[in-house]
Amino acid sequence: MSSPDLSDADRQAVIDVINTPNLSMGKYTPAFEKAFCDLTGVKHAISVNSGTAGLHLCVRAAGIGPGDLVITTPFSFVASSNALLFENAVPVFVDIDPRTGNIDPELVADAATNINKYLPLTGVKPASPLKAILPVDVFGQPADMDVINSVAQEHGLTVIEDSCEALGATYKGRQAGTLGDYGIFAFYPNKQITTGEGGIIITNDDRAANLMRALRNQGRAPGDTWLQHTHLGYNYRIDEMSAALGASQMKRLDELLSKREQVAAWYEARLSEIAGIDIPFIESFTTRMSWFVYVIRFDRKVNRDGMANRLEERGIPVRPYFLPIHLQPYMVERFGYREGDFPVTEDLGRRGLAIPFSGIMTEEQVDFVCSGIRNEISRA
Ligand SMILES: Cc1ncc(COP(=O)(O)O)c(C=O)c1O
Repeated sequence: MSSPDLSDADRQAVIDVINTPNLSMGKYTPAFEKAFCDLTGVKHAISVNSGTAGLHLCVRAAGIGPGDLVITTPFSFVASSNALLFENAVPVFVDIDPRTGNIDPELVADAATNINKYLPLTGVKPASPLKAILPVDVFGQPADMDVINSVAQEHGLTVIEDSCEALGATYKGRQAGTLGDYGIFAFYPNKQITTGEGGIIITNDDRAANLMRALRNQGRAPGDTWLQHTHLGYNYRIDEMSAALGASQMKRLDELLSKREQVAAWYEARLSEIAGIDIPFIESFTTRMSWFVYVIRFDRKVNRDGMANRLEERGIPVRPYFLPIHLQPYMVERFGYREGDFPVTEDLGRRGLAIPFSGIMTEEQVDFVCSGIRNEISRA
C-alpha cells in the first residue's frame, strides 16, 4: 500500500544516534521539536511515541474527563475517538461533508447548540457538560476550521485538531495543526514523514505544554528527580533514533510532499477519465493538500468489496477506507449506535477504497494500478 521515502542522510541520522550512548532524552528530541516550531510558528512542540499518545495528552491537558462531551467525527481512524474514551469522555458524533469526508461544520454548529439531539442512546451521564470539538483533517485535507473555531468561541469550547494525516497541509494559507488550541501529527511509516512510530503535539498554551511534557515523562514536573512524580503520567517519550530520523525527514518535508503531489497528479490524470469512480475532492480553502492516502470512491452500483478482491488478485494492494467508528463493536456495545445513524459516513465507508500510494511510486506503477482499475470497472 505504501512505502517510506528514506534518503541516505535519513539512514545516516539513525546510525549516528546508535553510535552514541544516548538513545533516549538526548539532543535529537529537541531538534525534532524545533523543526515543528519553525514550520508552524507555534510556540511549543512536544514529541511523543505515537499520534494516539499525542491525542491522549491533549485530552488530559484540556481537562476533559469522565462523562464530558466532545463533538467529533465518526469518519476517521479510531484513535481520534479512542483518546476520549481513555478518559471516559463521550465522543458525540456528527456526520460529514460527502465531498471531502471531513466533519460537517454546520452540524458542528447545530450540535453545539442542541447537544441533546446528538447524544448516543447509551453510555451518557445526565447533565454532562460539552467541553470540546475534535475535528480531523481527513486524508490530508484540513477541516473547515474557521467555522469550527467560531462555534468553539461562541460556546467556550476547546478545539483539538487531529492533523495526524495532514502534516504540511494549509488552510487559507495557514498550516494544518495550528488552527485549534492543540494540533497533533503522527509518523507511522505510511505518513508524509516517518519516525517508525511517533507523534508530536503543537500548542501556544504554556500551561498545557508544561503539563504535557511532564505527562509524557511519567508525570515528572520540572524540578522532580527521576523517582519523583508530581502527576499520574505515562511513558509516551519518543526515542532518539526516531527523533533523529524525524529531524532528518523534516529537512526534506517540501520535497516529500511534492513527490506525493506528483503521484496524486498522475492518478488524477488517469482516473478522472474512468466512469464509475470519483477521485478526491479538494476544497477551495485547501491551499495545500498534504496527500496522505489516495482514496477513490466507487459508484453505488459497483460492488466495492468484489472490486477490492479482484484488484488484490491482480497484485494491486487496496484497503476499504474508513470503516465507520460508530459501528466498531466496542462503540456499538457502549453507546448503542446502529447502522443508519450516520448515513453519509456509512455511505463513504461502503464506497471508498485506498489504492497504493507513496512518494516513491513511479509513473509505471501508477499506470499498472490504473489499468487494473480500468479493466475491472469495465468487466463489472
Ligand atoms: C486521523 C488519525 N488520528 C490518529 C492517528 C494515530 O496515530 P498513531 O498511529 O501514530 O498512533 C492516526 C494514524 O493513522 C490517524 O490517521
